[in-house]
Amino acid sequence: MKPLILVLNGPNLNMLGTREPGQYGHETLADLGQRCAVAAQTHGLEIEFRQTNHEGELIDWIHAARARCAGILINPGAWTHTSVAIRDALVASELPVIEVHLSNVHKREPFRHVSFVSSIAVGVICGLGSQGYRMALSYFGELFKEQAA
Ligand code: DQA
Repeated sequence: MKPLILVLNGPNLNMLGTREPGQYGHETLADLGQRCAVAAQTHGLEIEFRQTNHEGELIDWIHAARARCAGILINPGAWTHTSVAIRDALVASELPVIEVHLSNVHKREPFRHVSFVSSIAVGVICGLGSQGYRMALSYFGELFKEQAA
């Protein structure tokens, strides 16, 4: 069975394609999901690609991942900068976490320079658009290949 990676997208990411295209590009969330599905296939992974605007729902998904997933790729959106609860849920999952942002948050407003997730993540990718998601999936693919060897 292929390792299952939960790919989570936080608030407002359902608006990709129309939301601040200068910042986030013209790709929609569906395009991003499609690209991730292709990358998952390439790297020997299964993915579940999800988005929510409700913090509690995201937390419930993270809790449920503990028993059934091998890793979490998360773009927490604005909750990156505000949510201790999401950080705590990720820690409780005991899964490897990669934090991804489409934009380079360090080039933007100072409040975006703070992340509650980064210090508990295996790694952080930002500023590379949807390629960041694919790079994170490539990393997970290699990680689980190494662990299986
Ligand atoms: C984002 C960056 C966040 O600061 C912002 O609130 C988002 C998207 C990104 O992917 O660049 O919603 O996570």
